[in-house]
Amino acid sequence: MTHETLIADGPKDDSFAAAVLDGLSRPEKTLPCRFIYDRAGSELFERITALPEYYPTRTEIGILESCAAEIVARTPAGTVLIEFGSGSSRKTEILLRALDRLAAYVPLDVSAAALEDASRRLHRRFPGLRVIPLVGDFRTPPRLPDDLADRPRLGFFPGSTIGNFAPDEAVLLLRSMAEALGRDGRLVIGVDLLKGAEVLIPAYDDAAGVTAAFNLNLLARANRDLGADFDLAAFRHEARFNEERGRIEMHLVSVREQVVRVLGQSFSFAAGESIHTESSHKYTSEGFRTLAARAGWTARRMWSDAAGLFSVHELSAGSVPRSSAVTSPPRLITS
Ligand SMILES: C[S@@+](CC[C@H](N)C(=O)[O-])C[C@H]1O[C@@H](n2cnc3c(N)ncnc32)[C@H](O)[C@@H]1O
Repeated sequence: MTHETLIADGPKDDSFAAAVLDGLSRPEKTLPCRFIYDRAGSELFERITALPEYYPTRTEIGILESCAAEIVARTPAGTVLIEFGSGSSRKTEILLRALDRLAAYVPLDVSAAALEDASRRLHRRFPGLRVIPLVGDFRTPPRLPDDLADRPRLGFFPGSTIGNFAPDEAVLLLRSMAEALGRDGRLVIGVDLLKGAEVLIPAYDDAAGVTAAFNLNLLARANRDLGADFDLAAFRHEARFNEERGRIEMHLVSVREQVVRVLGQSFSFAAGESIHTESSHKYTSEGFRTLAARAGWTARRMWSDAAGLFSVHELSAGSVPRSSAVTSPPRLITS
């Protein structure tokens, strides 16, 4: 069998409860954006990628399509392609068409639902490809099946998901990926470029309200999974450009004074008080190269679109040893 099938829509995540209780107890309330991505959140993200205001997906796809052969050049036969935060794996198909004789494709995501849908589709489109979907947190290096342990590894991290991490956290994440990809590892990573608020704000606050629904899904998920009593109509989505930090922030702003109950605890909101739910840091190409270097990567090549909206970088690892002792790595769910 060349394909392992996910069996469930993901287990309930205890860490979601802990993150909600912790994040709402802080003086400046916050919730980690990775919890937006349950089945509903992953589906909403797919709708965002097709919005006219949301330039990153179509721009990155354009770059990957025109440069795929160059991007994957010098990838030896028998390589394992590991994708971090793979979501729908739609961009991956562009690389898969250009790649020859992969040992396996390993999509890794917190959303079991997204992995399940993507794996089924890839099985149909690439019947000879061994797909090993892993559900878990990409901040911990994944453990691969023993027969793949010594294969060369190519990492893929599109979508500018790196931007969801503050620079110091991004360095730690890139170091952990270097560890996962090993001594000769390479990483192809999509990075959104810094630009003006007139382009950025609509991209994160579209006219049709899909991004608002995506953001509010955090509260809807807390109601579904934790029995919380958030009134979704009492919070509104807001995208803010934090120029000093070079990032877009998504917030959920309480439209009135209110008290919300979650798992037996009460949380008070003043009118206008916000929950900071996501940051999306933007980089210049030089700024990103410096960040990657802090994590021990060497920037080899960079591709961009004609308008300079988005970039794709190829990084190569130095001498970071492959992980041997791994604590709670992402797990494989197979039937
Ligand atoms: C911005 S979307 C990008 C999806 C896809 N890679 C693309 O380029 O269209 C971020 C993806 O990363 C996943 N994700 C976010 N945080 C994660 C984490 N800590 N560990 C694993 N997956 C994560 C989400 O579920 C989602 O599928």
